[in-house]
Amino acid sequence: MRFAQILAYVVSNLRAPDKLLPIIRNLGARHREVGVVAEHFPPFKAALLKTLREKMGERWTPEVEMAWSSTYDMLAREMMSS
Ligand code: HEM
Repeated sequence: MRFAQILAYVVSNLRAPDKLLPIIRNLGARHREVGVVAEHFPPFKAALLKTLREKMGERWTPEVEMAWSSTYDMLAREMMSS
């Protein structure tokens, strides 16, 4: 639930990085505290994109995949840099 909520929040605030970045960095710090490291992010991305692809059916287009892929990369980069 918390993961879905944060994704919804990120998507609604993609054009407001000032609002977004402090929250993402804080999330990154909490992940580090529970032992999440950089190598965990690529398999997590693969699982997330696979799940979205399966759930979205024919609404999953190359443009949508590209948008989610780059959004995830931004999130992972900021979480790891915190
Ligand atoms: C873009 C990537 C990610 C996002 C947006 C994300 C988001 C979240 C959120 C919102 C929570 C709930 C935090 C809370 O309630 O305070 C959470 C918890 C958690 N995440 Fe992630 N996560 C990401 C990547 C990962 C990865 C790569 C791993 C490791 C495989 C991971 C492992 C965990 C664990 C173990 C918890 C539970 C921590 C606890 O017990 O408090 N997450 N994540």
